[in-house]
Amino acid sequence: MGDGAMEKPFPRGKRLEGAGIRVRIDGLVKRFGGREVLRGLNLEIPPGEFVSIVGRSGCGKSTLLRLLAGLEDISSGTVDFDGSPPKNGYREDARIMFQDSRLLPWRTIVENTAIGLAGKKENVRACALDVLKQVGLADRADDWPGRLSGGQRQRVALARALIHRPRLLLLDEPLGALDALTRLEMQRLIENIWKRYEFTAVLVTHDVAEAVILGDRIVLIEDGLITFDEKVALPRPREYGQSEVAAIGRRALDRIMSVNSLNVRNQVKGKIVDIQLGQPLSEVVIEAAGGFIAATVSSRSLSEQPLELETEVLAFFKSNEVILAVNSGSE
Ligand SMILES: Nc1ncnc2c1ncn2[C@@H]1O[C@H](COP(=O)(O)OP(=O)(O)OP(=O)(O)O)[C@@H](O)[C@H]1O
Ligand SMILES: [Mg+2]
Repeated sequence: MGDGAMEKPFPRGKRLEGAGIRVRIDGLVKRFGGREVLRGLNLEIPPGEFVSIVGRSGCGKSTLLRLLAGLEDISSGTVDFDGSPPKNGYREDARIMFQDSRLLPWRTIVENTAIGLAGKKENVRACALDVLKQVGLADRADDWPGRLSGGQRQRVALARALIHRPRLLLLDEPLGALDALTRLEMQRLIENIWKRYEFTAVLVTHDVAEAVILGDRIVLIEDGLITFDEKVALPRPREYGQSEVAAIGRRALDRIMSVNSLNVRNQVKGKIVDIQLGQPLSEVVIEAAGGFIAATVSSRSLSEQPLELETEVLAFFKSNEVILAVNSGSE
């Protein structure tokens, strides 16, 4: 530390300072065996944008990131970076960070950070020390990964991605395993680093509030397609308690829970013909083409929707419950 090289981070100088990549995804399909996991997904990300991706488990979020990182082959459709298909795999421009740091236990922090970086030994070390400083870990450079906390390991994972000057940083639930306070700190760190380097960022998270706090935009994937895409035009930094953050998060969640995003299979159209009010559950009888269905639903959901006699509804059959929602699409 303390040598002149630190003033000049990233001496590779191969590309423009701070340039995020433009991503264009067209009709992206990914099949595993006969199963279509992504079903013709379209998404355009301007350079330097921070996109948050949410969606239920198994909807294809990690698959999308892996395709963007070039870790999997596309079944059909296209992914373009700056207007052309990425060359020689995508590794040069894109880096991915996972929920676990995947550090090599037999290498020191600085060595882990520098993995894959070519150049003279002292230059490589200077670069690694510089990015470690960015993530607040320069003083642990010669320590072993086993001696770091989970949050610190994720900082090293971030440094390891940053050292390659990614123009696209892919974050697959990078904070998912951290405690709440460390999570907040890491969110700030990621945001600050993103602002400083201006790469394009795609964050997958299960925490809708986190998605709002960090994203310029929230995208919801359901069943292999994007079903919700909303800009977050709030000043930064944002906080969990803010009412606007909660409101946007609520809209995304509502959408996740809404009729259109539920599976088109296992549903029956009908009309409410009887309601037995109770607390906290009520029984609702629906007349459908094939006969009557009695569904037990929370009384709160009756008043929220609202569900009344004569309301046209769709009944969704799940393995352990039937959900009723107003059938606003009925003719
Ligand atoms: N290599 C693979 N072979 C077969 N099926 C796969 C493979 N990778 C993913 N899948 C399937 O693709 C679907 C989407 O998986 P993916 O990991 O993208 O989901 P996800 O949205 O990231 O879920 P989670 O929120 O739980 O991480 C799942 O049904 C999964 O089982
Ligand atoms: Mg995943």
